[in-house]
Amino acid sequence: MSDASRHRKYKEQQLLESFPLLKIPSRRLARDPPASSTGSVAQTAVLIDYLRQLERQGVTHVPVDEEARAILRGYFKANAPQPSRSSPTATAPQPAAAVAAAVAAPLTPTGTTRTEQLASLRAQAETWEPARSLGTLRDTMVFAVGNPEAPIVFVGEAPGYEEELRREPFVGKAGEKFNAILVAMGLSREEVYISNICKFRPSLKNQTTNNRKPTREEMHACLPFVRAEIGIIKPKCIVALGATAAEGLLDSTETVGHMRGSWHEFEGIPLRVTYHPSYLLHSDAALPEKRKVWDDMLCLMEFLDMPISEKQRGYFLPKR
Ligand code: URA
Repeated sequence: MSDASRHRKYKEQQLLESFPLLKIPSRRLARDPPASSTGSVAQTAVLIDYLRQLERQGVTHVPVDEEARAILRGYFKANAPQPSRSSPTATAPQPAAAVAAAVAAPLTPTGTTRTEQLASLRAQAETWEPARSLGTLRDTMVFAVGNPEAPIVFVGEAPGYEEELRREPFVGKAGEKFNAILVAMGLSREEVYISNICKFRPSLKNQTTNNRKPTREEMHACLPFVRAEIGIIKPKCIVALGATAAEGLLDSTETVGHMRGSWHEFEGIPLRVTYHPSYLLHSDAALPEKRKVWDDMLCLMEFLDMPISEKQRGYFLPKR
């Protein structure tokens, strides 16, 4: 073993021994080269490398002490995507009527195939002035992913830290839960279409990894895109994931508990409302809550004439 690798091993060992406290999700680490405003570059590099190594070994959480926590906080800050430069004072004020007209007018994607039309929408979304002029959304646009011929379109609320980094919806913790739901249904991300009601991460003061829900105004500014996506794909059904997406699509402030269990409609297409996958992440999400989401999915599967096994019918039922 060379001196350098021995030293590295020693530093890793030191870090390991000094991790008696708090749990942080190591999978939150970005893929970019490490840099931190708190720890030295070398300190940060060792810590990040070590956590990545654990991540590759399948470890999802590690306890960290205060010092490591401070280094990581600095790292997240230094590597966080930049907030919106277009603050309300930085841009020329948009007359509200012009923004309202742009939001109300249907978008006209170019191209002949669905793929081309979605690509044209994506390009328009990048510089969508009604969203930018609000000054409350960040600059990076996160469009949708999936199959342009999908029978189901899932709509979430807005990208978070992870989604903004990877420019893809539902790739963080909630995304993992969402993927598990798809797998249980016998589907993959490539077979469905996954979008958000708001295409930009809502901004916060001193934002690092923290996220917030989009406001009505923010959703309203992005709604033409969701409408156009659905117009192109023409799915057999839509799923609103959580109350925020349901509010944006149905203009209703009812609770999910109230809206789920029956069919609604968006642009003439049948729509179901279910709980947001992050609702199931809380450790206290009990079996009956999981079953409610699963009942909603079974209902969709029946609607789409998908095969359903006895095993699938029994998921999340209490053991007899
Ligand atoms: N939550 C959402 O609603 N959408 C995402 O893309 C990620 C988390």
